[in-house]
Amino acid sequence: MTRINPITAACLVCFIAISATYAQPKSIPQKVDALIKKMTLAEKIGQLNQYNGDWAATGPVTTDVGNKLDAIKRGEVGSILNIVGVQHTRVFQEAAMKSRLKIPLLFGQDVIHGYSVTFPIPLAEAASWDLDAIKKSARIAATEAAAGGVHWTFAPMVDIARDPRWGRVMEGAGEDPYLGSLIATARVKGFQGNGLGNLDAVMACAKHFTAYGAAIGGRDYNSVDMSLRTLWEFYLPPFKAALDAGVGTFMNSFNDLNGTPASASHYLQRDILKNKWGFKGFVVSDWGSIGEMINHGYVKNNYEAAEAAINAGNDMDMESRSYINNLAKLVAAKKVSIATIDEAVKRILTKKYELGLFDDPYRFSDAEREKRVLNTPETIAAARDAARKSIVLLKNNNKVLPLSKNDKSIALIGPMVKLKKENKGFWALDVGDENQVVSLYEGVQQHTGNAKLLYAQGCDVTDTTRTGFNEAYKTAMQADVVVMAMGERFDMTGEAKSRSNIHLPGVQEELIKAIVATGKPVVVLLYAGRPMVFDWTADHAPAILYTWWLGNQAGNAIADVLFGSYNPGAKLPITFPRTEGQIPIYYNHYNTGRPAHADNDVNYTSAYIDLLNSPKFAFGHGLSYTTFKYDNLKLSKKSMLKNGNIRVSFDLQNIGDYAGEEVAQLYLRDVVSQPVRPVKELKDFKKLMLQPGEKKTITFTITKDKLAFYNDKLDWITQPGEFNLMIGSASDDIRLQNNFNLDN
Ligand code: BGC
Repeated sequence: MTRINPITAACLVCFIAISATYAQPKSIPQKVDALIKKMTLAEKIGQLNQYNGDWAATGPVTTDVGNKLDAIKRGEVGSILNIVGVQHTRVFQEAAMKSRLKIPLLFGQDVIHGYSVTFPIPLAEAASWDLDAIKKSARIAATEAAAGGVHWTFAPMVDIARDPRWGRVMEGAGEDPYLGSLIATARVKGFQGNGLGNLDAVMACAKHFTAYGAAIGGRDYNSVDMSLRTLWEFYLPPFKAALDAGVGTFMNSFNDLNGTPASASHYLQRDILKNKWGFKGFVVSDWGSIGEMINHGYVKNNYEAAEAAINAGNDMDMESRSYINNLAKLVAAKKVSIATIDEAVKRILTKKYELGLFDDPYRFSDAEREKRVLNTPETIAAARDAARKSIVLLKNNNKVLPLSKNDKSIALIGPMVKLKKENKGFWALDVGDENQVVSLYEGVQQHTGNAKLLYAQGCDVTDTTRTGFNEAYKTAMQADVVVMAMGERFDMTGEAKSRSNIHLPGVQEELIKAIVATGKPVVVLLYAGRPMVFDWTADHAPAILYTWWLGNQAGNAIADVLFGSYNPGAKLPITFPRTEGQIPIYYNHYNTGRPAHADNDVNYTSAYIDLLNSPKFAFGHGLSYTTFKYDNLKLSKKSMLKNGNIRVSFDLQNIGDYAGEEVAQLYLRDVVSQPVRPVKELKDFKKLMLQPGEKKTITFTITKDKLAFYNDKLDWITQPGEFNLMIGSASDDIRLQNNFNLDN
C-alpha cells in the first residue's frame, strides 16, 4: 500500500481548497449562466424591459407604469432610458440594488453629437470626411456621458439617406455606403474607446436596423419597399461596419421593410444579424415599435406583438410594455420558449458584466469625475475644430471670402445671427450652460478688430412678415460687406420632422434678393439639418457657406472661416437637389437604357422636361480658398487578377495662395456587369493638408473588395471586365480618369 507522507497530504488538501475557490465561475459567460440559473421567469422578463426615465421623453409617453422605482425594486426593469446625471442615475440604481438579485440597471441615452460640449450634428460632421475628428468627437461625448452616469448611447445612427425631406438625415452620415461605413466605424470606436468596462467608454448602438432612411416619400416612420439587393448593397454596409468595429447593441426600426415591421423581422435580426454576421450583443426595439405592430396591421394585440418580436430576435422592449405584460403568458402557452427568453437575457446580462456594473453598479455615477471631465478647454477646442471642419464652402465668386481685413463695417443680417442654444441643433442634451454656446454675433465680434459690426434681423425663419426688410436694407447699405445667417430652425429636422417642402422657409429668400440687390458683397450662411432648396440664392449670392447646426462653438467656427483663420475643406456627404421634384436624387444611380447625354437633353431620355438632370450641388462638392491641381495619374498595371491589386497614384498640388485641405476622391464604375452597377461609386478618399505650392503624391490601392458587389442571389462576387477609374474633387468634378481590367 502506498503511504502518503503528511506534507504531500497537506499540499493536496491545500490544492483541493484552492481549486474549489477557483472552481467558482470566472468568465463572463460562466457568471451569466450562474446568474440565469438563480432567476425566476419574472426576473428574466424584467431584464428585457426598458422604461423611460424621468429626464425627458423622446416618444409618446405611457403613464400606466405606476411607480417606476417600485417596479425596479421588484426586478421588473432591466434598463432605463432618458436619464442623465450622477444624481438621477444613482437614485434609480439604488432601487435596483434593493431588488432580490441586485442586478444593476443599464442607463441608455441618446448621446448623438455630444453630451455637454455639443459637436456639430452628425450630418455636418460627416461633411468633414475627417474620420479622426469624428472619432474624437464621439470619444469626448462618451467620456462626458460616462461621467454623467450614462452606460449606453443610442448612437451612431448609420442609416443611409437619399431623401432630404426625411427629417432624420441630420442624424446620419448621408447617402454613401462607403463613407457611411467608415464614419460608422469611427463613431463606434469613439464611443466605446478602449472597450466596455473602461470608465470613459459608453456602449454604442447601431441604429435603426434597418432601411429606416428609405421611408417612402421621406415621411418619417413610413414603410420601406426595396429590393434585397439594394438593401445589401447600399443600406446594410454601415451596419456591418459598426458590427465589425465591435458595437455592443443594435436598435431595430419603426418601419416595415417589404411588409414586415423591422421589430418582427426574423430575416433581419436572426438570419442576418445574429446568424450570418454572428452578432453577440443585444437588439433593443425602437421606442414602442413592438406595440406599433398593431398599427402596422401585423398583429392583433400586444400579446401577439411580443411573440413576434422576441421570436424574431428583438431582445429588449423599449417602452411598449409588450414584453413585461405578455411574455410570461406566452411562455405558459408554449408560444415562446424558455430558451428564447434565456438567450435574450444572456445577451443583456453579458453587456452589464462587460460594463463592470456587477462589480460596482455606481461606477459611472461619480460626481467628482462628472465635474472634472465636462467642458474642459481641450474638449471645447475640439468642438471648435470639428465645427470648422464641417462647414462647406458651396460657392465663392470673385473671392468674396475670406473677408478682407480692410472692411470697416460688417453687417450681420438674418434670423440666425443672435441665436444661442439653438446652435446645438436637434438631438442635443440639456446639459451644461446655455452661455457656453457661442452665437454667430459673438463669434464675429471676437474677430472684427476695429471694424464696426452692424446688425438687423430682417425677418423670422418661418413667419412671413416683411416689416424688418427695410431696416435690413438700410443696415446693408451702411456696410462694406454683408453676412446673412439664414436657414431652417434647428427643430425643423430630427425625428418626426419631415418636410414636403425643403425650400428656405418663410420670406428668407426674398430678403436675400433684397440684400443682394444692394450690390454689396453678400455672404450667405445656411443653417440647416438637411440639404435645402435655395435655387435663387445659389445662382445669385456671390458666396455661400453651408453651416448646418454646428454645436456649442458655432459662432467661433463660422467666424474662423469667414475671416480666413481657417480655410474650409468640407465636402457634401449628400446630394443637394435643385428642387423637391428630383428627390430621391443620389450620385450612385444606375445609367438606365436612355441616359441623358447633357443636362438638358430631353430627347426621349431619362430626364424631366421642366428641370435639369443634375443636382444643384453634387455629392462630394465643397470648395476651398485655395485651388488644387490634380495631375500625373499612374496605374501600376492595366489589369489585375482577382486576388491581386493595382496601385493608383497621382499628384495633388496646392496652386493657390492659402494653405488648405483637399479631400481627393476615388470613384469606380464597372462598365459592363450583370446585374448593372452604378455610374460611379466612391471607393476611397484621402484628406490632406497642403501648403501653397506644395505637391504630394497620393496612392490608392485597388483590391478585389473594391470591385465586388451583390448579384441577384445576394452572393458577394466579382465579375471580370473593364472598370472605369475616376479621381476628383467631387462626384461631378472628375479630374483624372483611366481604365483597367479585372481578369479571371
Ligand atoms: C428614436 C430612437 C431613439 C429612441 C430613444 C426613438 O423615437 O427613433 O432613435 O434612440 O427614441 O430616445
